[in-house]
Amino acid sequence: MAAKNTTIFSLLFGLAFLGLAHINLINALNPNYYDKTCPNVESIITSVVKKAMLNDRTVPAALLRMHFHDCFIRGCDGSVLLNSTGKNKAEKDGPPNISLHAFYVIDHAKKAVEALCPKIVSCADILALAARDAVTLSGGPTWNVPKGRLDGRVSKAADTRQLPAPTFNISQLQQSFAQRGLAMDDLVALSGGHTLGFGHCSSFQNRLNNFSSKQSVDPTLQASFAASLRSVCPAGNTVKNAGANLDSTPTVFDNRYYKLLLQGKSIFSSDQSLVTTANTKALVSKFANSKQEFEKAFVTSMIKMSSISGGGQEIRLDCRVVN
Ligand SMILES: *[C@@H]1O[C@H](CO)[C@@H](O)[C@H](O)[C@H]1NC(C)=O
Ligand SMILES: *[C@@H]1O[C@H](CO)[C@@H](O)[C@H](O)[C@H]1NC(C)=O
Ligand SMILES: *[C@@H]1O[C@H](CO)[C@@H](O)[C@H](O)[C@H]1NC(C)=O
Repeated sequence: MAAKNTTIFSLLFGLAFLGLAHINLINALNPNYYDKTCPNVESIITSVVKKAMLNDRTVPAALLRMHFHDCFIRGCDGSVLLNSTGKNKAEKDGPPNISLHAFYVIDHAKKAVEALCPKIVSCADILALAARDAVTLSGGPTWNVPKGRLDGRVSKAADTRQLPAPTFNISQLQQSFAQRGLAMDDLVALSGGHTLGFGHCSSFQNRLNNFSSKQSVDPTLQASFAASLRSVCPAGNTVKNAGANLDSTPTVFDNRYYKLLLQGKSIFSSDQSLVTTANTKALVSKFANSKQEFEKAFVTSMIKMSSISGGGQEIRLDCRVVN
């Protein structure tokens, strides 16, 4: 009897586990989702992203980060795009300093798409496509984005505490990714998104001040690099928006991030943590040695991440407010 119960239990557990692992099959996304209903959706979004990049070179990094953020909280359901309301403080206004920007690019894209195919394309899909364009237009790979996400109706500031923090160590990162069905390979490949963008001092001050009782600077940082970070982010820094580029080519999607990582020139503790285990370090070396291998892995992991299903229920008409 006991044995029988155990078997039934493991069977149920196994099914529940499979259900979780393949949740996106239930809510299947499809690269051809809008072929009949809005055949030009991708080119419309690409032209909006292209135009925005010409005016502001930080737009691609912002869009990629916005998409990560969207998918890591409540799945990829456009919850990051919602404005706070009188009663509710939304994710975009949440702690810690998430400093997301370039929401206007999604607004412009939505407006252009609505003009052509009203009430067809979700804000979550627009963001996923804009993030892909951001990568491609910065010199990175391109890929077919599976589509068919629905927009959620919930966005809570407090949920941003669930995002992996820049101060995380490898086990904390692994746990955060695993909770979303993402593996170590995905963690290393998606961290390569730090080939684009900028980090504020507050996100890496932990490596520069009172690192431990014996050393004031993280000893894994290369010495002159640490000194340069120290000079832009001195203790008690009051310069608003001070910080550092996440790699030396912050507007180009390349594998420089991994090369610098192996030289002790990473910005966040979470970057450095990728070289603290043999498995993750082997991937870092592989990606540092081959842009092609990095791109291949990045595309695979992006598709996986951007398929994390959320509680989407509608096609929002304005990406900043629920219908
Ligand atoms: C959303 O918030 C932004 C910034 O606070 C504001 O400019 C915009 O008008 C708001 N949009 C809506 C639809 O509430
Ligand atoms: C990571 O940090 C957590 C929380 O501080 C700690 O429990 C854990 O042992 C750390 N793991 C590693 C590998 O340092
Ligand atoms: C958030 O930003 C504010 C103002 O830029 C800064 O004073 C504060 O220290 C930051 N907090 C964290 C946790 O980084």
